[in-house]
Amino acid sequence: MTRLAPPARKALLTLHVVSSVGWLGADLVLLTLGVAVLRGADPDTVYPVAALVATLLFAPLGVLVWVIGVTSALLTPWGLLRHRWVAVKLVLTTVLATLVLLLLTPRLRHAGAVGAALPHAERIDLVVAPAVSSTLMLVATVLSTYKPWGRLRRADRTGGRRPGAAAPAGR
Ligand code: HEM
Repeated sequence: MTRLAPPARKALLTLHVVSSVGWLGADLVLLTLGVAVLRGADPDTVYPVAALVATLLFAPLGVLVWVIGVTSALLTPWGLLRHRWVAVKLVLTTVLATLVLLLLTPRLRHAGAVGAALPHAERIDLVVAPAVSSTLMLVATVLSTYKPWGRLRRADRTGGRRPGAAAPAGR
């Protein structure tokens, strides 16, 4: 697999961090808006804003994070299925991005359309879903910085580096 020169790798890493942590930020905004309605804010005002954030920011960022994350793994010595922390992030992000696109965004758009007519149980869902997803994104962020658990395969073509060893070269 092609490896990137250090300046290109830094640029890709910058894109990856900005998009993924931005995704977490957008999720926290949705959580805040959901809580605001439960605390008495006007659903006719808040839910259309949440729907807009979901459509213009949250859903597109989900796709972008997945694509840039996979690219970052494939074009660096980390590899996609070589280190457990990367593989776990791949699974987490794939599940999250799918749920965001197929479930959460349509529900938020529906809430934006019906406003105050949204039943209480669905209002609760619009708090629980972003609370769970932002917690999982926080887990992904912590995995990224601590990089735990070593390799999936003991040795490969790069030579059996010790599990949990420092970042592969080229950063
Ligand atoms: C498809 C999913 C993902 C994959 C395959 C992936 C893969 C990677 C890889 C390989 C790196 C190291 C890049 C390098 O050293 O040049 C990295 C760094 C990082 N990732 Fe991800 N990532 C994914 C999703 C996420 C998500 C969802 C978040 C957070 C919400 C995240 C946050 C970060 C952060 C903060 C770093 C920088 C860590 C550092 O430089 O010490 N990633 N990711």
